[in-house]
Amino acid sequence: MIKKCLFPAAGYGTRFLPATKAMPKEMLPVVNKPLIQYGVEEALDAGLTEISIVTGRGKRALEDHFDISYELENQIKGTDKEKYLVGIRRLLSECSFSYTRQTEMKGLGHAILTGRPLIGDEPFAVVLADDLCVNLEGDGVLTQMVKLYNQYRCTIIAIQEVDPAETNKYGVIAGEMIGDDLYRVRNMVEKPAPEDAPSNLAIIGRYILTPDIFDLIKQTEPGKGGEIQITDALMKQAQNGCVIAYKFKGQRFDCGGAEGYIEATNFCFENFYKTGKAY
Ligand code: UTP
Repeated sequence: MIKKCLFPAAGYGTRFLPATKAMPKEMLPVVNKPLIQYGVEEALDAGLTEISIVTGRGKRALEDHFDISYELENQIKGTDKEKYLVGIRRLLSECSFSYTRQTEMKGLGHAILTGRPLIGDEPFAVVLADDLCVNLEGDGVLTQMVKLYNQYRCTIIAIQEVDPAETNKYGVIAGEMIGDDLYRVRNMVEKPAPEDAPSNLAIIGRYILTPDIFDLIKQTEPGKGGEIQITDALMKQAQNGCVIAYKFKGQRFDCGGAEGYIEATNFCFENFYKTGKAY
């Protein structure tokens, strides 16, 4: 059973400057909830109760968010404002939170490796909180992926079809279809130019990784931009036939940039806030 979920949250969030100068990108609110809270809720809904967060300098607000504020609790006790804290209280009572710091921002692969002492030798999920994923029709995206992991027992990565002109923003896969929306990955390219992309199936910020990934990351040389990419380590797993890509059911908003963030805000306002499901 997968219990652990790692949130790499040490990045600088440069696409959202100046908002992210002194505030973690993961704390940007989508309507009334910070991005990371949506991610932790999705993890808990998938049965992942051990939350590990890789933070960095200037990210202390993340730890404060997943803690009790006694003054605030005392202030609103017995008033109708208590409803605003129901969601976060559920997370605090049902999940454990642990943190480690990435001291040099050497890429997503490096951030995941930094989380190794919190994860140990077991399969785990990874959520990039700036990819907000929702599915109004049924299971959340991580729940869908955990079910697949339980069936296939190998690394599962979430993919979506993107505009072929935008492949240079993503890791892109090639592989053979093995079922509905499922591919066995054979090749992967990090941020290919459209003419070099093997497909338009792009990796998004949800993964279930088997723990051999840590040693593979260790052996990975820095790639594009001097960063240690997770794609390079996944590629080695894929060569052994151990990576399945899954075209998930639901929607994903890239909240690391203004356009996706505004779309997510409008979506959550209509579907959660106005309908009273936002707390
Ligand atoms: P991004 O590519 O979105 O990087 O990282 P970023 O630095 O946060 O944002 P921009 O591009 O500068 O605007 C994907 C995820 O990996 C984490 C980020 O926090 C984000 O959740 N990350 C990235 C780390 O934790 N450490 C790193 O060294 C790099």
